[in-house]
Amino acid sequence: MRGSMVTPTIHNQPIGPAIYLETFGCQMNELDSELVTGHLQALGYQFVDQPGTADVVLFNTCSVREQAENKVFSRVGRLRQEKDKGREVVVGLLGCLAEREGSGLLQRRPEIDLLCGPGELDHLPMLLDNILKGQAVEAADRVALQGSNSRRSAALSAAEDSLEVLDLSRAFDPDGGAIGGRAAYVRITRGCNKFCTYCVVPNTRGAEVHRPPDAIVQECRALADQGVIEITLLGQTVNHYVYVHGAAVSSCGDELPQVGPGLSAFRNGTAGGPGSRKTSFADLLARIHDEVPEIKRLRFVTSYPRDFGDDILQVMQQCPRICRYLHVPAQSGSDRILSRMNRGYSVSQYREFIDRVCSAMPDVSIAGDIIVGFPTETDEDFDQTCDLIRSVPFKNNFVFKYSPRPGTAAINRFEDDVPEAVKRSRLNTLLAIQSEVSRTVHEREIGHLHEVFVEKLGTGGAQQAPAGRVELGWETPVGPQAQLSGRTPGDLITVFDVPPTQSAESLIGEIVPVRVHSAAPRLLRGSLEGALNPV
Ligand code: 5AD
Ligand code: SF4
Repeated sequence: MRGSMVTPTIHNQPIGPAIYLETFGCQMNELDSELVTGHLQALGYQFVDQPGTADVVLFNTCSVREQAENKVFSRVGRLRQEKDKGREVVVGLLGCLAEREGSGLLQRRPEIDLLCGPGELDHLPMLLDNILKGQAVEAADRVALQGSNSRRSAALSAAEDSLEVLDLSRAFDPDGGAIGGRAAYVRITRGCNKFCTYCVVPNTRGAEVHRPPDAIVQECRALADQGVIEITLLGQTVNHYVYVHGAAVSSCGDELPQVGPGLSAFRNGTAGGPGSRKTSFADLLARIHDEVPEIKRLRFVTSYPRDFGDDILQVMQQCPRICRYLHVPAQSGSDRILSRMNRGYSVSQYREFIDRVCSAMPDVSIAGDIIVGFPTETDEDFDQTCDLIRSVPFKNNFVFKYSPRPGTAAINRFEDDVPEAVKRSRLNTLLAIQSEVSRTVHEREIGHLHEVFVEKLGTGGAQQAPAGRVELGWETPVGPQAQLSGRTPGDLITVFDVPPTQSAESLIGEIVPVRVHSAAPRLLRGSLEGALNPV
């Protein structure tokens, strides 16, 4: 890869080209896009809202399902037509699709100028610089991917982890970020070691790498100093976080990111080896809670149903600002399918875990993910999934039709033999069952007072499921007054009328008390209670 210069600024004023960046997929991608934006802005690039006015169009892509990839390719196809008509625009793919397709994509889709995998985003300025200065002579000047060695190289390079710089160099924009800069994501672990047979993530994001706890706490502190009051910690299997002190240290004595322990070490309690000092996920949660009290809500996603220790539950019980909310995907209610998915737990183990969580915290809120139509899934397997959904108090489940993904074990081992119509019908059946379960979960809240973190005016945006997910039937309440919507600590969407005397905008980004008076499957409705001062 050539080039070491980056586009300059004059007196910190942007003089660089205009970039349009569109993000697909998960929260990890949203965070990556935020960090990349800050990095490029600091180098003088400007960001625009419309692709039509941009010099550079970047797509931060997701590969988890084919549908997500198709969307990106259709956007790229449109840009190709414009390029054919003479428009000069640099088109770049960032993220998992770039990593999964590899550099051959540049030949297959010559309208694409740049590829940058999720583990190489710190190289993006250099790639852009190469291209914009006409120095990208060879394909290698336009590509930054971990490649087929991604797992090995991620492991080897963890100690000299340049991506850590991207997380640490987070640019702070008081008006940017979610909810007017009051909510933020903080990554604690990158990659995944689980190898569920359907999933591309272990290939595209590489091996599990844990960030040093001091760096994470520092980042939370800096965010709090900028006015953030809600932090969501991110990891593909967030409860697997563990940092062994002294194992990876720079020449200056700073702790460095490190590769996660093997699963056997996890299960027999020897992660980090005997006598080693380590920070577990429970320790990390407690540290952030105690050391950054300005953070009023601390959340974490996504939890894995195995290896979720009682120590984590205890910390959640003891620390009032840690939200009693878990997103813990079951994926299926059939042992046969779970085993083919290589999930590493049985349905009864999943149920035991949920029972343990509910008895520790009866007010906990639980969300999940389910895949329908996994290869060989029979009506009987599917019925077992329906039973699981009926018997666990899920506030919601994201339901996906199985999508065979290149590079996964499932696509090589199993024929995609469940017809599309059957997948669709199972998805609709599950949505209907979940809708009833969600209604019951929401109705339990009637009469309760909740602290609601106000997100936006109206209900529209608050009701959108994350991209690519089929959420269970949002509905739009109607009413004469302006409405605000936000979320309870348990992540239940709550809508309330704004009293005529109150400025709705002034409440956005605040936590306010709302008494719930009615419930629907997907949301609560309530009224502001008591003094209208934020909590
Ligand atoms: N097909 C359908 N759904 C998938 N997911 C991951 N891979 C696939 C796939 N190949 C779903 C899982 C996961 C969520 C993020 O996406 O349910 O929890
Ligand atoms: Fe994919 Fe499984 Fe890892 Fe989740 S735990 S990212 S589904 S491999």
